[in-house]
Amino acid sequence: MDSPTILVIGSANVDLVTRVPRCPKPGESLIGTAFSTVAGGKGANQAVAAARLGAHTYFAGCVGDDAFGAMQRKTLAADGIDLTHLKTHPDKPTGTAVILVADQGQNSIVVTPSANSGITPDDVAALEPLFSGLDAVLLQLEIPLDTVEAALDLARRTGVLSILDAGPAQQVPESIIAKAGLVSPNETEAEAMTGISVKSVDDAHKAASRLLDAGAAEVVIKLGANGALYAGRESLYLPAFSVNPVDTVAAGDAFTAALGVCWSRMPRKEALQFANAAGALATTVPGAQPSMPARAAVEAFLNEQG
Ligand code: RIB
Repeated sequence: MDSPTILVIGSANVDLVTRVPRCPKPGESLIGTAFSTVAGGKGANQAVAAARLGAHTYFAGCVGDDAFGAMQRKTLAADGIDLTHLKTHPDKPTGTAVILVADQGQNSIVVTPSANSGITPDDVAALEPLFSGLDAVLLQLEIPLDTVEAALDLARRTGVLSILDAGPAQQVPESIIAKAGLVSPNETEAEAMTGISVKSVDDAHKAASRLLDAGAAEVVIKLGANGALYAGRESLYLPAFSVNPVDTVAAGDAFTAALGVCWSRMPRKEALQFANAAGALATTVPGAQPSMPARAAVEAFLNEQG
């Protein structure tokens, strides 16, 4: 089978990661145990994951004219990603994410988009010639919403599958939800979009129905250690694989990219299983882009799991 072709339009950040025994309470100071600077950003992470999962991958975004921007260009290029449409902002710095990773693997993240605001609807229009050859376009919410909407419009007009990873959590206009081919929030993102608190698979069903009512064609809710729920042509729940997580940062990005790579090429259940495996493996390695698994690793893991 030929390789899938994926376009990611999204953010590129540098992650400033501090390891802590636990997340601090408001007003509390804690001693961290390790610090690292890692290439991240939901868009760039998904581009790296798609490339490692075997896709010919384009990344469209915007970084600053600074050392962090150079770092992103270098790491994305190392995975063979086409960077023709990665712009450099004339005056804003590269986006950053300040991340705390607690010893149990949970994380909290504050993103400052900065140069990520430089990718515009006009840049999307310039991408139109690529669309005829795409399996999917992947979008997230760390770039301007009018840019996301322009990409969803273009995907609809050209008949390309669009996958909207609804992170970071925020209220999303129904006009955007209604234009997405596949909407994929995690629990907190689903709550921000629907007002339904997602604490169980049952809650996830309710949130997914709300998103379908808002016009999404298909929905996949990422439930972390509790698996994933699909609603659309049918309803499917898949439990997560059991692994020992060291860092959950970007596990959702590995999951979304895996959906993009196989959604139009595998039955729904198999695609969800493949994405669950990619997400699980990403939690076993520290850091965002360093943890994105290769296709061979995902296939070997699925074989081991039977
Ligand atoms: O999804 C994880 C990513 O969210 C991190 O890499 C960080 O940059 C933020 O964008």
